[in-house]
Amino acid sequence: MTKKADIGLIGLAVMGENLVLNMESKGYTVAVYNRTTDKVDKFVNGRGAGKNFIATHSIKDLVDSLEKPRKVMMLVKAGAPVDALIDQIIPHLEEGDIIIDGGNSHYPDSIRRTKYVEEKGLLYVGSGVSGGEEGALTGPSLMPGGSEKAWPFIKDIFQNISAKVDNNVPCCDWVGQDGAGHFVKMVHNGIEYGDMQLISEAYHIMKEYVGLSHDEMHDIFDEWNKGDLDSYLNEITRDIMGYRENGEPLVEKILDAAGQKGTGKWTGITALDLGVPLTLIGESVFARCLSAQKEERVQAAKVLGSPIKKFEGDKKQFIGYIKDALFASKIVSYAQGYVLMREAAKENNWDLNYGGIALMWRGGCIIRSAFLGKIKEAFDNNPELPNLLLDPYFKGKISDALNGWRQVVGQAVMSGIPVPSFSSALSYFDGYRTETLPANLLQAQRDYFGAHTYERVDKPRGEYFHTNWTGRGGDTASTTYDV
Ligand code: 2AM
Repeated sequence: MTKKADIGLIGLAVMGENLVLNMESKGYTVAVYNRTTDKVDKFVNGRGAGKNFIATHSIKDLVDSLEKPRKVMMLVKAGAPVDALIDQIIPHLEEGDIIIDGGNSHYPDSIRRTKYVEEKGLLYVGSGVSGGEEGALTGPSLMPGGSEKAWPFIKDIFQNISAKVDNNVPCCDWVGQDGAGHFVKMVHNGIEYGDMQLISEAYHIMKEYVGLSHDEMHDIFDEWNKGDLDSYLNEITRDIMGYRENGEPLVEKILDAAGQKGTGKWTGITALDLGVPLTLIGESVFARCLSAQKEERVQAAKVLGSPIKKFEGDKKQFIGYIKDALFASKIVSYAQGYVLMREAAKENNWDLNYGGIALMWRGGCIIRSAFLGKIKEAFDNNPELPNLLLDPYFKGKISDALNGWRQVVGQAVMSGIPVPSFSSALSYFDGYRTETLPANLLQAQRDYFGAHTYERVDKPRGEYFHTNWTGRGGDTASTTYDV
């Protein structure tokens, strides 16, 4: 009898190919299938030649070639193709078999699909896969969620193929129920938007305000990479600063109009839906939108002028301040992202492992950084931590950086350099630690024009009052007002 495969994969685009090559290199036999079946033959006779792959040309053949419980992983275009494939796979499976979606699905789809597949007596896993094509081949960050009963059957493969940090710790663990894996991947992408925007603001200030050369910026990013800011994105920024085309920095030849695929937007929308102040990621998405209005900005610059003043003073000290602003804002961004995860967990009845999530992001993915190890420690010390800003380590770091952060935001504002993520992070920090915000006035306004009522500081919470502010409106509060 021929050996059966440990897992089957549908979708031999680059991600799929790389992921199965990774699995095979770890000793697994993988059955492969693709809708356009030529690609199966091309793969097993090409990159997969001489390796432990089973080529299949129909979903039935793929399923028949699998060890039980069968594990069928899809890596196809997100959206309708995933639903269509699930319906094609289900008739061939038996109770306890597992369907895995490793594509870029939106988490509400994974919530719905888990329920649908479980109702058929099968198990479903929606897994975030991060690290791009290279990560898929050499070790991605994997964020699986869905039917928890599936985890013991896929744990071995998933953790073996994932990225490793420190002493062989896998960047993969069980995230939580139904759509939790894809949700956490979405937040990862949102945080990636924030990290990229923060670094871009630091670059903007250094280039336009401080007047540093690309060689100087290269050396600064290189220096930063040795400390708290050690991260993949910082590292590639260093290399980008050093990259030249015909002797000129290539980065200056690139059009300043950012693209986006939508995961940052989804993160922002989810935050608005849940009422979570995810300001930094929101600003990062909007900053890309503003950048994309290139032609209009060119016209506006002619009409409104460019107010940028140059820095005067101790450059070395100010570069230290930029580092402070970058680090403190980054802490705020992750603090906000974790609050979003906590609120989503409440809303969706997920039991999320917050420290484990930091560990999953620690290697293999775009936001990988040393800093995530500190987040893991913070949640290990206090799994109920309501906000990272309250953790003693991060509290201390923010306190050390606060003066520099304020200097950078203040000077950027005075010189006309836009710093939406640095400044929104600082406003969030100041808002979060302010006992009395001006929302008393907001409530007064709401009650004045709409009889929306207010609570009082001199009465217990939960008691609502309405005032007839003008003497004309009557005493009816909106909550008791029926049209
Ligand atoms: P294809 O090679 O037949 O186009 C990325 O697009 C991957 O998703 C490809 O492997 C592609 O298969 C697959 N894919 C896209 N839509 C699909 C569908 N409706 N059913 C199956 N596979 C699909």
